[in-house]
Amino acid sequence: MVIPSARIVIAGGSGFLGVSLAEYLSASGREVVLISRSAPKPVGDWKHVVWDGRTLGDWRHELHGATGLVNLTGRSVNCIKTPDHRDEILRSRVESTRVLGRALRIVDSPPPVWVQMSTAHIYGDPPELVCSEDSPFGHGLAPDVGRAWEEEFRESALPNQRRVILRTGFVLGRNRGAGGGALSTLKRLTQFGLGGTVGSGTQGMSWIHERDMNRLFERALFDPNMLGPYISSAPHPVSQKDFMRELRRAVGMPMGLPAFAWMVRFGAKWLLNTDPELILYGRYVVSKRLKDFGFVFQFPELRPALEDLLERRT
Ligand SMILES: NC(=O)c1ccc[n+]([C@@H]2O[C@H](COP(=O)([O-])OP(=O)(O)OC[C@H]3O[C@@H](n4cnc5c(N)ncnc54)[C@H](OP(=O)(O)O)[C@@H]3O)[C@@H](O)[C@H]2O)c1
Repeated sequence: MVIPSARIVIAGGSGFLGVSLAEYLSASGREVVLISRSAPKPVGDWKHVVWDGRTLGDWRHELHGATGLVNLTGRSVNCIKTPDHRDEILRSRVESTRVLGRALRIVDSPPPVWVQMSTAHIYGDPPELVCSEDSPFGHGLAPDVGRAWEEEFRESALPNQRRVILRTGFVLGRNRGAGGGALSTLKRLTQFGLGGTVGSGTQGMSWIHERDMNRLFERALFDPNMLGPYISSAPHPVSQKDFMRELRRAVGMPMGLPAFAWMVRFGAKWLLNTDPELILYGRYVVSKRLKDFGFVFQFPELRPALEDLLERRT
């Protein structure tokens, strides 16, 4: 495949997904610019530019002549949902999207495509229903934030810009020094024998391997036929119980203590410093639009995805 010469700007690119994408794009000869408040911890083949995520600054010059913009900015949702945290979860997403839109309007040659991160949690936490792109949105903090984030994106993108939204599930990836997402935590718990069924275990886990995630970003950036919202999640979501069974297998841990909901409510808050609802609830999402579009996942099934990432040696 001939790789077009390209310069991709990734806002909120210093974290787990940004660094993974930056490595992927730069490995195929693309120039990458990461914009964030602090420099990414790992060193790589990219340029880093500082912003505050809400006001215009010199960072805007990076958008001039860029081939594409990817926006990943957002405070992590992996925390106890205090009023302060809830506020920052919302504002970091909406304000960063808004200021990117303002910057695009004052540069001479803005990127023709903007790929915007969103969340599969926008569909809420239906216990059994399998959601696709045209399912109604859910209710609660995450769906409300997702909705506000996407609305701001629609307002902020330029009228003639190709816009792609990726409503993303749980990304399974490696820790390159910028965080490893929730898989790192689950792997550690599993290695301690704590990787069992949680609550009923039927809550959905809609996941995607980071390589497929990066291939999707790439396709969204370079394929002019990609347009609008897509669910970015592998075609075979699983229950929490099945996910943990596969994870135990991948790390070679034969047992995993189950946990009742009350134990998770206590343990998540006091031991893991996070929101128990992230563990007790879930969702099953499958993209209809990616299927219609003919996107082929390299990791459609969970077992090979986990084996690839966790490099189990028997
Ligand atoms: N990882 C997943 O499985 C997953 C799934 C679905 C959606 N997402 C979404 O994808 C995006 C990237 O995920 P990630 O896993 O790479 O997250 P991450 O590692 O926490 O990185 C988040 C990025 O946002 C910036 N950021 C954090 N708080 C900010 C704030 N208050 N104001 C401005 N910038 C802020 C961070 O850089 P600085 O702090 O240096 O500015 C960093 O570049 C997030 O919006 C996340 O919600 C992730």
